[in-house]
Amino acid sequence: MHVSIPSPGFGTFKIPDDGTAEVSVREAIKAGYRHIDTATVYANEAGVGKAIAEFNRNDIFLTSKLWNTDRGYDSALRAFDKSLSLLGTDYLDLYLIHWPANRKQFGDKADSINAESWRALERLYREGRVKSIGLSNFEQHHIEALDWTAEIGPMVDQVELHPGFAQEELRSLCSSRGIVVEAWSPLRRGRAIDSPELSEMAARYGKTTAQIIIRWCIQLGTVPLVKSTHVERMIENLAVMDFELSDADISVINAFEGGRIFTAPDEAEF
Ligand SMILES: NC(=O)c1ccc[n+]([C@@H]2O[C@H](COP(=O)([O-])OP(=O)(O)OC[C@H]3O[C@@H](n4cnc5c(N)ncnc54)[C@H](OP(=O)(O)O)[C@@H]3O)[C@@H](O)[C@H]2O)c1
Repeated sequence: MHVSIPSPGFGTFKIPDDGTAEVSVREAIKAGYRHIDTATVYANEAGVGKAIAEFNRNDIFLTSKLWNTDRGYDSALRAFDKSLSLLGTDYLDLYLIHWPANRKQFGDKADSINAESWRALERLYREGRVKSIGLSNFEQHHIEALDWTAEIGPMVDQVELHPGFAQEELRSLCSSRGIVVEAWSPLRRGRAIDSPELSEMAARYGKTTAQIIIRWCIQLGTVPLVKSTHVERMIENLAVMDFELSDADISVINAFEGGRIFTAPDEAEF
C-alpha cells in the first residue's frame, strides 16, 4: 500500500503534558499541519491524542516511537498497545524503533534485540494496526544488521539532521533502499537560525532563516519535523512551499560545520 507523509511534520519533543501538548497540537493542526510526531518517552501521548480527537483521524498522519526500555518482541507489542490507548486511536500511521540497541550497552546481543523489536513492528504492520514502520537513529550498520532477519524493509529512518549535520552518507544509503529520511531538530533546536549566511539568503528570498532551513531539508529529499509552541512560528515554519533554493545555496548550507548536537547512537547509554 502506498502511504504519503505530509511535510513538514510537527514535532512534540519537550512539549509537556500539562495541557500544553494538547493546545500546541490543536493549534498546529488548525495552522495546517497534517503530520504529528510524538513518542512514548515524550510523555505527552495523552495530550496529543486529546487534540487529535477533535479532528478527522484520517486527515492526520500520526507517529509514535518504541522507547528503549520496551525493546524486544513481547514488550514492543505491549508498548504499542499502551501508546494506542494513550493516544485514543486504533491505529498509527507510523511506528518507529526510537534508538537502536547498541554494542556499548548490549554487546553481541544488540543486533538480535533490534531484530526482535523489528519482528514485533512487522506483525503490527501485517495486522494493519500501523500503516508504516521504521527506525529512528539507526546508522548504516544498524540498518544492515536488520537485513539478516527482516521480512519487511524499514520505510523510514528519523535522524538528527540540520545545517552542520547534513547526513549525506546516510541519506544516500536510505535513498538507495527506498527509506524516507525524516529530519529531527532541523533548526538545531533553534540554534541554527542565527547565521550570517542564512540571514543573507533569507533577505534575498524574502523568507526567515527558519524557513530557509526547513526548505533546505525538503530539497534534500527529507521530511523535516519542526517543533514550536508559538502559533506564529507554526505558521511560519509551514510556509515553505512557495519558493525554491538554488543549487548554489543548497551547497552553501550543505557545507556548514558543527556536527551533532546530541549523543551518537553507538554512544548512547540510555
Ligand atoms: N527521533 C529522535 O530521537 C528525536 C530527537 C529529537 C527530536 N525529535 C523530533 O523532532 C522534532 C523537532 O526537533 P526539536 O524539537 O528538538 O528541535 P527544532 O524543531 O529543531 O527546534 C525547536 C526549537 O526552535 C524554536 N523555533 C521553532 N520555530 C522557530 C522559528 N520559526 N523561529 C525561531 N525559533 C523557532 C522552538 O521554540 P518555541 O517552541 O519556543 O517556538 C524550539 O526551541 C521534535 O519535536 C521531535 O518530534 C526526534
